[in-house]
Amino acid sequence: MLTPGRLLNLATSSAGVLVVLAGCAGAPAHRTARPIVDVTAVHTVDPGSVPGLSTVTRSEQNDRRHVFAGYPRIPGAEPLTDALAKAVEAQVRPFEAATKRPGTLPGASVPELNVRWSLAAASGDVVGVRLLADQFLGASGGESRQTLWYDGSARAVRPSAALIDGKAGLAGLTEAVRARLGTETNPSRVRAVPDTYSSIAFNDDGDMVVEFSDYSVAAGAAGRIAAALPRATYDPLLSEFGRRARDAAVATPSKLALGSRAPAARSSAPPSARPSAPPSTRTPPPARTDCTKVKCVALTFDDGPGPYTARLLDMLAERKARATFFVVGTNADAHPELLRREAAGGHEIGNHTQSHRDLSRLPAMQVNSDIQRTDEIVRAATGRAPTLLRPPYGATNATVAGVARSLGMPQILWNVDTRDWHDHDARIVADRAVSNARPGAIILMHDIHRTSVEAVPRILERLRDKGYTFAAVSELLAGRTVTPGARYRDGGDR
Ligand code: NI
Repeated sequence: MLTPGRLLNLATSSAGVLVVLAGCAGAPAHRTARPIVDVTAVHTVDPGSVPGLSTVTRSEQNDRRHVFAGYPRIPGAEPLTDALAKAVEAQVRPFEAATKRPGTLPGASVPELNVRWSLAAASGDVVGVRLLADQFLGASGGESRQTLWYDGSARAVRPSAALIDGKAGLAGLTEAVRARLGTETNPSRVRAVPDTYSSIAFNDDGDMVVEFSDYSVAAGAAGRIAAALPRATYDPLLSEFGRRARDAAVATPSKLALGSRAPAARSSAPPSARPSAPPSTRTPPPARTDCTKVKCVALTFDDGPGPYTARLLDMLAERKARATFFVVGTNADAHPELLRREAAGGHEIGNHTQSHRDLSRLPAMQVNSDIQRTDEIVRAATGRAPTLLRPPYGATNATVAGVARSLGMPQILWNVDTRDWHDHDARIVADRAVSNARPGAIILMHDIHRTSVEAVPRILERLRDKGYTFAAVSELLAGRTVTPGARYRDGGDR
């Protein structure tokens, strides 16, 4: 199973982790015999295994700010969806206020906020959702970490501290955590109050993982501060709900039962038993259109799949139009059935990275893992790894180009921006797409917005009237020499 955050955790783990490992001398032998793993990596449930789960995504890309934030919507757990929306809003609002004018940062650097999620538990009547918010604002910024829990029997959202039993429990937890953190931590800031504990979850072995936001208990440069507590240590500290949360987090396979409102289980098998995919190939879907002979444009849809993607696929099928979907791994992971529909419809699936971070700020190792995790999700669902990379926000540099080259992928940008994230108006979006289209154009849209999808019938009709054929990006580029790592904004001169 793919575990969002694991690679990042390994890359950013602080000395605190080593202290934790050293502190495991009394742990069972199998643990010390294993290769070194990050024991503070939080257990992750496959979102594709949760019936009816959908994703909510908001994004913004301009010269003021880059924002990408997502969270899950789980049927039967509406109060949790509301709390997640509020938690995301609490990140976005102050960020927007701090980036009101262009040029908050010197040079071409654009402030960035990225909020991503994973499921820490989804079993019985308990759900745990972990939210990671990365903020880049020049010298300030860092990652904040929060895990919200949902108690289905009470239909109530619980903060992480509710896993712990009262004041005495918090005091015991604080003592245990302090004993395991490294010297970079300021112990006086690890206090026995609920606010200290914004993220409590569990690892794959059922140990409790207590993690902190950057700056909350140490200097920002220390990276992620987290501790893993063995069961014997944390068990006496748990509240009644904490015990249920722990049981849900370690339950396999996960079976969620949030009451009659949840739809019947999907027919899809658990991830390990999903239909076996053919061997991986990095080849585009078969060409149907020769864009050196006919007038082509490529419609591209970024950031999905999402709640409107199925409708978009119906529209494209009815009108026999081909498109390219640049999918984000966290959304793709939650919707493998939509990936399969995209592929079965003859559309091209490109890679828009796992977490939608601005790649130009990340080291090569992280750029590489962010691309490859999405490759793996697409390959597992469709049997075909993407051949095209679209860096989020179109933000790229020599490091990103080098990684793309090593993975054999050209970087696909665009030359027509519908700015559909800004104008939630199907008529405006359609007008922009149609009036700016030229032969060989690559048109940027997002299938996470209802109004963008509603613009599609108009775009198809009007561009077809002008003699255009809707091609996949690979078809559009077929007349050019395509070099891995190089950037392409259109199909070139005809
Ligand atoms: Ni995007």
